[in-house]
Amino acid sequence: MFDYSNSFISKHEIDNIIPNILLADNMLNCKEGPGSDFLGWLDYPNRLEQKEIQKVKDAALKIQGDSEILIIIGIGGSYLGSKAVISALTHSFYNEITTEQRKAPKIYFAGQNISPTYLKHLLDISENKDISINVISKSGTTTEPAIAFRFFRELLLKKYGKEEASKRIYVTTDAKQGALKKMAENEGYTSFVIPDDVGGRYSVHTPVGLLPIAAAGIDIDSFLQGAKDAIVEFNKKDITNPCYQYAAVRNILYNKGNLIEILVSYEPGLYYISEWWKQLFGESEGKDNKGIFPASVNFSTDLHSLGQIIQEGKRNLFETILNIENLEIDLSIPSDEYDLDGLNYLQGKGMNYVNEQACKGTLFAHLDGKVPNLMINLPDLSPYSIGKMIYFFEKACALSGYLLGVNPFDQPGVESYKKNMFGLLQKPGFEEIGEALLKR
Ligand code: PA5
Repeated sequence: MFDYSNSFISKHEIDNIIPNILLADNMLNCKEGPGSDFLGWLDYPNRLEQKEIQKVKDAALKIQGDSEILIIIGIGGSYLGSKAVISALTHSFYNEITTEQRKAPKIYFAGQNISPTYLKHLLDISENKDISINVISKSGTTTEPAIAFRFFRELLLKKYGKEEASKRIYVTTDAKQGALKKMAENEGYTSFVIPDDVGGRYSVHTPVGLLPIAAAGIDIDSFLQGAKDAIVEFNKKDITNPCYQYAAVRNILYNKGNLIEILVSYEPGLYYISEWWKQLFGESEGKDNKGIFPASVNFSTDLHSLGQIIQEGKRNLFETILNIENLEIDLSIPSDEYDLDGLNYLQGKGMNYVNEQACKGTLFAHLDGKVPNLMINLPDLSPYSIGKMIYFFEKACALSGYLLGVNPFDQPGVESYKKNMFGLLQKPGFEEIGEALLKR
């Protein structure tokens, strides 16, 4: 699954780091490291009860039956995982194909920004459609989704009245506390629980990810099975464990000055997998003035832009290719009688073959440019493989964070902008901060 033969790392460097990686894994398993209150994701797929899965499936079925559009409202870990999985596993033009082809509602995301232009446009296209909402927030108090939810709740109340609106609002939030929890109780919304011990970016296998993914018609049993198998496979206590390898190699490269990791994919459908991955690693590791900066590119598109700086810019980066071994769809390149474009040498060849040669050619070029290259191989794009891959990244990230000496489960830096924003907005309780900022 994980290949680091092009990382420019010698065997003895791996041998040297093995004791540290074993220690990091022990910190995870014995729940002895920083952030150990947030390790619920480690075995969550095994603990998830069948009746909760059935509740998710029932809700998804109801949404499919009565809604043309599903709006997912959330930000960060409360939206990126489901967006990533849905984008990777559905039609590239999911919202544009017919309902018969899709067999599921169109899906749009809101509350992941504060742009009135985006929200107004989304409200415009939702107005005359049958809609349901899944609002997701662990804290239940995050400003961006709270604003979007106000607008969509208002729209639903106007369209359907109180009783029907409350049947079309699904809430995913904390089990006991928070504004959303209270609202769900008061209004009788169907609600799902984000466990206390699972942080936002580690929550894709919980109802945070499961409800939107199931509503999109994706098989959540296979998705969860992938994660359950990953729990067993990535629990090996030696360096053949791919999570150990990825965490170890990243740490070695970081200590040699490779401060930027670029996740590379050749499939546009993986764009949001990269976005989710960037959040997972960036928010988990970037603290205490440490951390690899996670970036991403989509090739061959970005070979015509960022390819230049990767090939010849400052040598402080490395690449991790997310490679899909078997793709379901292929197109054979047509022949042309006159061959004016000179492409007949490729006639009859599959586009996947051409894409693979682009990948190999780029790999050789970037190795010549002294860019360490890692590769993660997925057998296919299926719910099972994606469910497994997500767990792989989560575990590797936790290990990598402990190797780096940080708490991979908190995000204290995220609070800084919130405090300033609240101060500037004169939120009660933040007036002093606001005044100090206005003086600045
Ligand atoms: O990973 C995280 O914990 C964060 O990205 C959160 O998911 C994000 O800030 C949204 O928080 P909440 O779900 O409380 O609205």
